[in-house]
Amino acid sequence: MRHLLVTGGAGFIGANFVHHWRRTRPADALVVLDALTYAGNPANFASLHGTDGFTFVHGDVCDSALLERLFGQHRFDTVVHFAAESHVDRSIVSSEPFVRTNVLGTQALLDAALAAWKPDFDGKRFHHISTDEVYGSLGPNDPAFTETTPYDPRSPYAASKAASDFLVRAYVHTHGLPATITNCSNNFGPYQFPEKLIPLMIINALTGKALPVYGDGNNVRDWLYVEDHCAAVAQVIERGRIGETYNVGGGAEMANIDLVTSLCALVDRKFANEEQLAARFGSCPAARRATCRDLVTFVKDRPGHDRRYAICADKLRDELGFRPATAFTAGLDRTIGWYLANETWWRAIEGGEYRDWIALNYGAQRQGAAR
Ligand code: NAD
Ligand code: DAU
Repeated sequence: MRHLLVTGGAGFIGANFVHHWRRTRPADALVVLDALTYAGNPANFASLHGTDGFTFVHGDVCDSALLERLFGQHRFDTVVHFAAESHVDRSIVSSEPFVRTNVLGTQALLDAALAAWKPDFDGKRFHHISTDEVYGSLGPNDPAFTETTPYDPRSPYAASKAASDFLVRAYVHTHGLPATITNCSNNFGPYQFPEKLIPLMIINALTGKALPVYGDGNNVRDWLYVEDHCAAVAQVIERGRIGETYNVGGGAEMANIDLVTSLCALVDRKFANEEQLAARFGSCPAARRATCRDLVTFVKDRPGHDRRYAICADKLRDELGFRPATAFTAGLDRTIGWYLANETWWRAIEGGEYRDWIALNYGAQRQGAAR
């Protein structure tokens, strides 16, 4: 039986991971530590509240005293570190929270694990969740990122994640901390905060708002259904070699405009097949048999916008036999289905902080840019 500390477990990937682990390894004890920033939502694990072996702690990963107390109380043997500021656009507006949580928070967590575990590291594992963005940006014909691609972070977010990766590697090398790292491509699926491309586009399409595509729409990302990311992380925790980095990807490279076009077609089809959607979402173009594609609006580009990410995940496949199970279109269709079935979840987010962010990021200064 494992005793896990999952930081950032109220966020998008963290919450999916908590559900995944609970479903696949029900005997283990799980403690979620989350500061409940704008992106953290206890509703993401509502069904687990009050169940045996599940504890939620509202707290900050930078709080060393709290971490020491939690390690003392719960005797963790496994740490899974998701907690982070995760949105590139917000890191452009202000990088301070990114350095604080992503760099100093990771350092505080590493120190807490080290103090609790050394000198007996037997059966212990610190798993750090990172991103493909640390590797920089690719040209159209460049080979995909491998685990040995030199780091070249280009946004404040990516730089803070790169710093956290280097700290983890340094604790392995210097202190012998039994850690692993996964660097993953773009995730999508249930519970994703609608500041990110896919949930933003779904919700804007349903509510008849513009679909803001940055620049010429030809920036390329590799997409992975979140459940596959969670399964990969679980395998690395259990069978990955200590001190190693594993890339995780979906093998689904796509230009943003092609993704948005596919998403519009899937929403249009759902409205054609389910009559009651037109009554629920009367502002959606599909409600009047027009296409959501009409909402696409090209807007001013993200400063420093990385052109292309592509992941080579051969190491994970060859060493651990991991392959993603969900094809991109099937995952996207399921994700749209989730947002349709969970309108209350995203309606609760739409006011307050989210409204202010949308006004700031998509306000006057972004309008009027054409391809
Ligand atoms: P998210 O923004 O949805 O969730 C982050 C969570 O961390 C939130 O619940 C938030 O409240 C919590 N948090 C923030 N600051 C905290 C602090 N100081 N103390 C405790 N908790 C804090 O992010 P996500 O998309 O779920 O990403 C999770 C992790 O995966 C991040 O480390 C991110 O860098 C990485 N990652 C994300 C993607 C992606 O496509 N979303 C891809 C690769 C890697
Ligand atoms: O690659 C992994 C990374 O993927 C993670 O480390 C990050 O945490 C995660 O946020 C994500 O970063 P991106 O910047 O790629 O994700 P985002 O959803 O913000 O944007 C995806 C692409 O879509 C990117 O090229 C920018 C573009 N975009 C985004 C938004 C929000 C638009 O064209 N319009 C938009 O409104």
